[in-house]
Amino acid sequence: MAELSIPVLYSAEDIRDRIDELAHEISQNMSGEVMIVSLLRGSFMFTADLIRAMYHIGVQPQIDFMTLSSYQGAQSTHEVTINRDITDSVSGKTVLILDDILETGRTLSYATKLLKERGAKELKIAVLLEKPGKLDVDVRADFVGFKVPDKFVVGYGLDYDNHYRELPYIGYLEIH
Ligand code: IMP
Ligand code: MG
Repeated sequence: MAELSIPVLYSAEDIRDRIDELAHEISQNMSGEVMIVSLLRGSFMFTADLIRAMYHIGVQPQIDFMTLSSYQGAQSTHEVTINRDITDSVSGKTVLILDDILETGRTLSYATKLLKERGAKELKIAVLLEKPGKLDVDVRADFVGFKVPDKFVVGYGLDYDNHYRELPYIGYLEIH
């Protein structure tokens, strides 16, 4: 019988330390009022921890959420759809998009284009994870937590079939 384990890539402590650094990087590179658009579901934990790290250094963003889907099971599909839209307007605002992981770039490219069309004044992207070498559209994250190896990662909000989001660490699926 196949057995599954989830070896740790980044511990809860690694994640906390890196998020504190990211909050500083963001506050040094974005000025004025910032509106965060957090892409659900994968970035809910990242968002919750990042905004608290921001609080500790005096950043007071507005926050909204959008649910996009582009991914099923372990294979990326090519269409992006909005399952739940933001409720606030981004027009004229400085927007920071948060996502869990940048892989093919399709999700973030779609989100960027959409928010630009809606009149965002300035757009930056922060991702907790980036899987280098997998991009197939032209999009770049301004802030990256960790560059991960080419494995299917789960935990800390990231899922496999909507499981493992609750793990306080980031690991990868290993099947024996
Ligand atoms: P992209 O559109 O291909 O860049 O994929 C981004 C989305 O795919 C992320 O927001 C995740 O939801 C999902 N995804 C990509 N790689 C992984 C992974 O290794 N584990 C879990 N989800 C992933
Ligand atoms: Mg996702």
